Amino acid sequence: TLRTELAAAIAAADTEAALDAVRVSALGKKGSVSALLATLGSMAPEDRRSAGPAINGLKTEIAGLIEARNSALKAAALDARLKAESVDVTLPLQPAPTARGRIHPISQTIDEITAIFSDMGFSIAEGPDIETDYYNFTALNFPEGHPAREMHDTFFMKPGADGVKKVLRTHTSPVQVRVMQKTSQKPAASYLTPAMDPPIRVVMPGRTYRNDSDQTHTPMFHQVEGLVIDKSSHIGQLRWVLEEFLKAFFEVPNVTLRFRPSFFPFTEPSMEVDVQCDRSGNEVKIGEGSDWLEILGCGMVHPNVIRNAGLDPDVYQGFAFGVGIDRIAMLKYGMPDLRAFFDADQRWLDHYGFRP
Ligand code: PHE
Repeated sequence: TLRTELAAAIAAADTEAALDAVRVSALGKKGSVSALLATLGSMAPEDRRSAGPAINGLKTEIAGLIEARNSALKAAALDARLKAESVDVTLPLQPAPTARGRIHPISQTIDEITAIFSDMGFSIAEGPDIETDYYNFTALNFPEGHPAREMHDTFFMKPGADGVKKVLRTHTSPVQVRVMQKTSQKPAASYLTPAMDPPIRVVMPGRTYRNDSDQTHTPMFHQVEGLVIDKSSHIGQLRWVLEEFLKAFFEVPNVTLRFRPSFFPFTEPSMEVDVQCDRSGNEVKIGEGSDWLEILGCGMVHPNVIRNAGLDPDVYQGFAFGVGIDRIAMLKYGMPDLRAFFDADQRWLDHYGFRP
C-alpha cells in the first residue's frame, strides 16, 4: 500500500535532503497523498464520508513520520559533529613551526659593540633621529652658513609650528651634547639619555641619514659615537680604547692603526683612523697584510662643544669617535653589498641573520 511504501521511504532517508525529497513526493502539490486528497472532490457523498477521514488520516500520519525522522536525523548529525570536533587533550603537542625569526646583522653588531664598551666601563645612551639643527650642527661648533654644513648631505625637515629648524641627524655626534647636558643637576628627560656627571664614558649607537645613495652609501645608515670626558682624558687613552675595541670586535690578537690628520668642527685636533688589513683576497682580513682601510673619525672634543653643553672647558676635556656600524659589520661578516642590509629579503636574512 501507499502507506507502507511511504513509511519505508521515510525510514530509508538517511539525510535531511533525502527526507525532504520524500516529503515533496508525498505531501507536495504533485505528491502522491495530495493526489489522493484531490480525488475526494469527484466522489459520491457516501464514498467521500468513509474515504475522507482515511486519506486525511494517512496525510497526518505521514507528516508525523517525516517529523520524527527529521528529529532523529538532526540528533544524529549533532552527535557526529560533536564526535568529530572533540579535542583529545592526551594527544602530543604540534611540533613548533620550523620558520624562525633571525636577528638582523645590524642589531647583532650593535649588541656586540655595546657589549665590548660595557666591559670597558662605558654606559649607553641614545638620542632622537629627528634632531634640531642646533644639536646636529650649531652646538657642535658648525657656525651658521659655514661650508662644513654642506659636507653632510642633510635631509631638512619642514619647520614646525614652533619654528624650530629640524633635520634627520647626519651623525650621532649630537648625542654627545645631549649626554653632557644631562648632568645630575638637570634630571634626565628620558632613560635614553641618562643623567651623567663627569667622568663621562658613553657610547651612543643609532641611525643616521644623508642624502647619498650608491654601492657603498645608503640614505639611512648606522653609527656608534663614543665620548669620554674627564679632567685629564687624553689622546693616548683614545688610541688605547680604539685598539682594544677593534681587537675585541674583529676577534684578532692585534690591530695596527694609522691616525691621519683631518677636520671636524667639533674636535681639535681631528683624525681619521685607518686599520691595517689584507685586501688581496675576496674578503678583507683585519690585523694582517699591508693595506689600509679607513674605519672611523675621532679627535679631542672642541672646547666650544664642551662649553655649549654646559661644562667648563677649563676643567674638563676629552675625546670622541664615530664609527660606521654598517661598514664594520660588512667587514666582520663578509657581506659584500651594503644595500642588502635594508632590502628585507627573507633569503638574505635567513642566510646572514643570527640565531636568537
Ligand atoms: N660625526 C663624524 C662623522 O659622522 C664622526 C666623528 C665623531 C668624528 C666623533 C670625530 C668625533 O663623520
